[in-house]
Amino acid sequence: MGKITIAIDGHSSTGKSTIAKRLAKTLGYIYVDTGAMYRAVSLYALNHGLIDAEGEIDVPALVQKLPQLKLRFVPNADLGISEMHLNGENVEREIRSMKVSGYVSKVAAIKEVREMLVGIQQEMGKDKGIVMDGRDIGTVVFPDAELKLFMTASPETRAARRYKELLDKGEEVTYDEVLKNVQERDRIDSTRTISPLKKAKDAIEFDNGDMGLEEQFERIYDFSQRVI
Ligand code: C5P
Repeated sequence: MGKITIAIDGHSSTGKSTIAKRLAKTLGYIYVDTGAMYRAVSLYALNHGLIDAEGEIDVPALVQKLPQLKLRFVPNADLGISEMHLNGENVEREIRSMKVSGYVSKVAAIKEVREMLVGIQQEMGKDKGIVMDGRDIGTVVFPDAELKLFMTASPETRAARRYKELLDKGEEVTYDEVLKNVQERDRIDSTRTISPLKKAKDAIEFDNGDMGLEEQFERIYDFSQRVI
């Protein structure tokens, strides 16, 4: 078989992107972190006064601005990763903040936001040879993907991982805040009407709560070799 499409979905902070990035590198595939795209739109809304003090989003105003948003993944050779640029500015760091995490699931529930981003994602993957991670990749973006994984772990395990990451980045945050955010995003992502987070029927469920990175990678690489 030639190049395939690999869809990696699952709950937040399951380490999807770490695995997806490594898999893409090993296979010589493109890697796309779709969460970064929803985060960039959320950052735009926050920076342009489209979310009020009560956390209400001005949906019509945001929808009207969508065509002006230029989202690009720009490779950073030094770090060996691609960074999200929004309208020409590197926003990689800001999009990972707790502030953005606090709003992103609400922004991602807006129909027009999803339509725009799903269109861009489908275009990016039209030639296959791609590993894309997100919430709806195997169900909506690439329902015909040859390999679909659904990653999960308990909210506590995921919050502990995320907490450590944020502390390492110097963000001042408590474990309880992170746990609450993880649980709240799970709730909004799984209950929204459009493209809710759910396992595709043909996805392999992968609980990585007790699994080290090496073991996860080996297993997932093995899955890919059975399909390619
Ligand atoms: O993957 P990450 O945790 O960075 O995603 C941030 C948020 O973006 C998720 O909690 C979800 O609300 C939204 N998202 C989505 N669909 C995707 C990717 C992310 O709704 N394909």
